[in-house]
Amino acid sequence: MHRSELKKEAAEAALEYVPRGCVLGVGTGSTTMYFIEGLKKGWVRGAVPSSRETERALRKKGIRVFDLSQAKKVSLYVDGADEVDPKLRLIKGGGGALTREKIIATAAKKFICIVDESKLVKRLGKFPVPLEVVPMARAQVAREIRRRGGRPVWRKNFITDNGGEILDVYGWKVSDPVKKERELEGIPGVICAGVFGKRRADLLLVGTSQGVEKFISVTGIRW
Ligand code: 5RP
Repeated sequence: MHRSELKKEAAEAALEYVPRGCVLGVGTGSTTMYFIEGLKKGWVRGAVPSSRETERALRKKGIRVFDLSQAKKVSLYVDGADEVDPKLRLIKGGGGALTREKIIATAAKKFICIVDESKLVKRLGKFPVPLEVVPMARAQVAREIRRRGGRPVWRKNFITDNGGEILDVYGWKVSDPVKKERELEGIPGVICAGVFGKRRADLLLVGTSQGVEKFISVTGIRW
């Protein structure tokens, strides 16, 4: 099966977990777009989008859009990922929406990650780690990253929805995602690191050619 079919399969499986009448957090990317396609207008009270792109897609479906500050409670966050390790820790930000994605994922009670099987890895780091940075700090952050053994590549001509810039960092093996995330987010000028160690997914739905596989992280959440 083609990767896009596997993404669609995972996205459609996530629809079953959407509590009716809830406020839903919605991620960014092609897998998430399949999820939005499957959402029906009356199912949710509204949604908090992680990017302008997602906001447009939700509005097109007639789904009410909330700002995070307006939403008292986000019951569920659904999003894709660039890499997932066996403990459901993630690399995200291939689409550049990592900061809002991390904020909404952290605010949400539950986080379902939807991916095709190519995203599964034993250890994070083959996919470059995206960092959103304050534009005036870009060169300074890049120097600091090189000092720490990474190879930062500036995503030219790309400005995030927050007005930030992106450095994609190659060459790191991320064996302790929580530590790496904390270290990176401690560098002045870094707005957000695309390592989701602290806020990992609670449930992972993987599209495979044999059907959707389900993995639950040990968080004591009832599904
Ligand atoms: C956007 C993301 C996406 O979830 C990630 O890049 C995966 O995208 P896709 O579903 O298109 O493979 O983190 O910032």
